Amino acid sequence: MLLEIKDLNTFYEQSHILQGISLGIDTGEIGCLLGRNGVGKSTTIKSIIGLVIPQSGEVLFKSRNVAGMPPHDIAKLGVGYVPEDRRIFPTLSVRENLIMGVKPGQKNNEDGWSVEKVYKYFPGLQARDKQKGGFLSGGEQQMLTIARTLMGNPEVLLIDEPTEGLAPLIVKTVEQVIQDIHQHNIPILLVEQNMRVALRLAGRIYVMSKGKIVFHGTSRELKEAQEVREKYLEV
Ligand SMILES: Nc1ncnc2c1ncn2[C@@H]1O[C@H](COP(=O)(O)OP(=O)(O)O)[C@@H](O)[C@H]1O
Ligand SMILES: [Mg+2]
Repeated sequence: MLLEIKDLNTFYEQSHILQGISLGIDTGEIGCLLGRNGVGKSTTIKSIIGLVIPQSGEVLFKSRNVAGMPPHDIAKLGVGYVPEDRRIFPTLSVRENLIMGVKPGQKNNEDGWSVEKVYKYFPGLQARDKQKGGFLSGGEQQMLTIARTLMGNPEVLLIDEPTEGLAPLIVKTVEQVIQDIHQHNIPILLVEQNMRVALRLAGRIYVMSKGKIVFHGTSRELKEAQEVREKYLEV
């Protein structure tokens, strides 16, 4: 496994939010952490990237335990994070926003991402090169957040609810971009509430409920697991 978490327990004050979460994704995979609102998906991602310190358990990235390291160190090792709240800089242009994604001291080899290379994957952003971030639509802002994270040359990408609040047509565009990035050999851990998106994109799916993983299997297995879908996903 490229990224693996083992028996992670995370608290907010007295609340025991993550209760022994274990999951992993391997090179070449899109994995999905799927579950309803408030079950602990974002807390899981934040525990991986160091925004929240887990009380116990391991976060293994390339077999090294990074649990408890500061977020910028974990990012530097190659873990890219696309937050759920699309923190773009509204007064900076699209290009300037992208450049903000370059890490201090970063050196690019030929595989590295540049603004020009990012634009090949996101032609919609290229068309808005000089536009201020604050004037972009929700879908464009989501694209920009993903693209900006790529500028830091991540080896794995964690994306928190990229399709939330987007119109169906835009959801398709975001899905296409995620697939394109995956084709570029970047494994992805996707967090989703939308089962349909997960089934279309992910090979490996973890279903989460109340701080625990309640199902782990392929998208085909989840399609067949009607009980799991009814109990934890569909309303
Ligand atoms: N900073 C915080 N302090 C206290 N409780 C929090 C905080 N962030 C999230 N929570 C609570 O932790 C639980 C899991 O939240 P979260 O991981 O954001 O869920 P999800 O991403 O699945 O919607 C929820 O009950 C939420 O209210
Ligand atoms: Mg969340």
